[in-house]
Amino acid sequence: MSTGQEDYLRVEGVTKRFGAFTALDAVSFGAAKGAFISILGPSGCGKTTLLRAVAGLERQDEGRVLIAGQDVSQLPVSKRHVGIVFQSYALFPNLTARANVAYGLSKNMKSRRGVNKRVDELLNLVGLKNLGDKYPGQLSGGQQQRVALARAMALSPNLLLLDEPLSALDAQVRVMLRTEIRDMTRRLGLTTIMVTHDQEEALTMADRILVMKDGKLVQNGSPWEVYDEPKTPFVASFIGSMNFLRGSFNDATRIFSKGLVRMEVASESASLQGSVLAAIRPEDVLVGVNGEQGRNVFEVGVRLVEYRGPVYRLALDLPLGQSETAPLIAEVPAEKARRLRLGAQERVKVILPPERVRIFAEEAV
Ligand SMILES: Nc1ncnc2c1ncn2[C@@H]1O[C@H](COP(=O)(O)OP(=O)(O)OP(=O)(O)O)[C@@H](O)[C@H]1O
Ligand SMILES: [Mg+2]
Repeated sequence: MSTGQEDYLRVEGVTKRFGAFTALDAVSFGAAKGAFISILGPSGCGKTTLLRAVAGLERQDEGRVLIAGQDVSQLPVSKRHVGIVFQSYALFPNLTARANVAYGLSKNMKSRRGVNKRVDELLNLVGLKNLGDKYPGQLSGGQQQRVALARAMALSPNLLLLDEPLSALDAQVRVMLRTEIRDMTRRLGLTTIMVTHDQEEALTMADRILVMKDGKLVQNGSPWEVYDEPKTPFVASFIGSMNFLRGSFNDATRIFSKGLVRMEVASESASLQGSVLAAIRPEDVLVGVNGEQGRNVFEVGVRLVEYRGPVYRLALDLPLGQSETAPLIAEVPAEKARRLRLGAQERVKVILPPERVRIFAEEAV
């Protein structure tokens, strides 16, 4: 876990309880200056609470928060120099976009001209140059969230905290705004923490992703690490999708078996014995090999073929025996699926590449 001295933000063992309920359980992580961190996890896992604890909107019961080496744990939100954007736009409906952005500035800047100049800069920054005189009700969702962003940036914060800033927006606007937000924070070298429950958002925007579950931090890694080297079955299935097979594993032979399926496992992900979960991502299942005799080749029944534009999603039946009902899901690029005329076939061969199979302890779910 990166909590070294060089971290600009450090969260150390932060625990937050609401009565008997533990919303945050000893959460620790660090963020380098200028880093973009995404917090990802299911509803109720403590994402907003963590952001609020960093902001000073919530006082933790244990642990501390440091910004630029200074312990800010006891400082109120107004002294922490953080910019915050909430999920709901939370703009003042009776103030224009300009006035919303100027709101915090007017208290801190003496000259009216100074305020106006700064508001112009900020509106420019978020691409709203000509819309300053509109009221929130006259702006689209995406435009309102830009105003909220400009307002959060007004006092040049040390830290930008974003709580699902894009979740209320439609897909196209989201994609556009996420690129803009990332460009802006990169340009300004601004350390940013963004809560999301959109895995694609986290994978595309973040330098590091924190995955939370039940108030605990379960993994802290680069997008590549959390996707390709998930620490637990939960992380594996929360980010992207994953096939799981319950069976037994012999670490000496590195053979996983379940029913008639005997599968080699190359990855060094586990030194486990006995009852385990084997996991493989749908895009790693290689479909449509002909007459191949290699490792982990199985003939499977095709239960279902689903067209999804760029890929076909197949539900396949491995020869597992009676007990197993969950199909093996495979994703095949559309071009390949067409070439193999996949829809027409009832049986097909697949390879489960040994190096793409991971083994997890069963109890780790
Ligand atoms: N003020 C509070 N009093 C009591 N319980 C609270 C309070 N704030 C949050 N909680 C509880 O703490 C847990 C974490 O809440 P939090 O808002 O941090 O979740 P979240 O991960 O942001 O979820 P979502 O994705 O739905 O926004 C939830 O079970 C919630 O009910
Ligand atoms: Mg929340």
